[in-house]
Amino acid sequence: APFIATTSAPVNIACIKYWGKRDTKLILPTNSSLSVTLDQDHLRSTTTSRADPSFEKDRLWLNGVEEDIKAGGRMATCISEMKRMRKELVEDVDASAPPLSTFSVHIASYNNFPTAAGLASSASGFAALTASLAALYVLPSPPTTLSLIARQGSGSACRSLLGGFVAWNAGTLPSGLDSHAVQVAPETHWPDIHALICVVSDTKKGTSSTSGMQRTVETSALLQHRIKHVVPQRMTDISAAILARDFDRFAEITMADSNQFHAVALDTAPPIFYMNDVSRAIIAVVEEYNRVALLPENGGKRKAAYTYDAGPNAVIYAQAANLKEIINMIAYYFPQQDAFKDPFDLFKGAGVG
Ligand code: DP6
Repeated sequence: APFIATTSAPVNIACIKYWGKRDTKLILPTNSSLSVTLDQDHLRSTTTSRADPSFEKDRLWLNGVEEDIKAGGRMATCISEMKRMRKELVEDVDASAPPLSTFSVHIASYNNFPTAAGLASSASGFAALTASLAALYVLPSPPTTLSLIARQGSGSACRSLLGGFVAWNAGTLPSGLDSHAVQVAPETHWPDIHALICVVSDTKKGTSSTSGMQRTVETSALLQHRIKHVVPQRMTDISAAILARDFDRFAEITMADSNQFHAVALDTAPPIFYMNDVSRAIIAVVEEYNRVALLPENGGKRKAAYTYDAGPNAVIYAQAANLKEIINMIAYYFPQQDAFKDPFDLFKGAGVG
């Protein structure tokens, strides 16, 4: 029988942002982060890995196009770490196990969303790669252990190995062994939370996360304040809000953290601008919507939370009861947005998965 395995992993969207590395090779962050993993139906990567003694070298195809596996690069590191785990955890333990760690692998990965959509594909991509090799190698390792490997592909990828609400604990060890993802709550704990993805621009341009965050570490004084005095309390507070299913508090913290992440980008020299005028106008609309929702006669609670990563696209978290209203409101205020014309194309509504 051929040695082959296929696995999918969804995109995750951070509420407390990862921005900054203390170790660029091992990908160890300067602060903990927390995200929501989207469900499998909408934005995901699916990866098939095959090991065979006849393969001459490791090879990789992304959306059908072969990519170079750079020696010593992130992809090569993930593959060799997984082979090492196969040897130590399976072959060294069971002499009858096939020596897959000595075979080369062929890996094919597909995204079910356009790579050019400006939506992070590295998180789902490296999570699916790690999960697929773990299945191929029949590793006994839990997702938290596998997250140590996915992290070395792309930091945010470690959070996509778990569903629901996921924290990436920064850790303190130089080895990175305590810098892994943990589930704060499964998706079933709070199914009534949804992500609207507003594609403001579908072109990929600007400063990459990897180089942008390094420049921030080197030049921003505000980042040091964020790391020491802001993120630790927010991690505690948003975890409590999630456990209490307190959307108002969840929204307040999520928006504040998105705004501080973009402030830290602006505090970088030279400054980095990820949001554009449409992004900022969406913030204004959501803030006004929440201002009205916060009036005592309207219930006194926020109904939407925006968040932006290293690009202009908005993700809006909301509860099911308010989704229609929010979609109509955004479509009404942004008629000039080509991508917003068909609400079904434009808003990739995704639940938590
Ligand atoms: C703004 O995980 O893409 O989306 O570790 O260098 O691959 P590397 O960076 P990456 O950075 C993600 C940054 C972010 C915030 C987040 O997802 O937490």
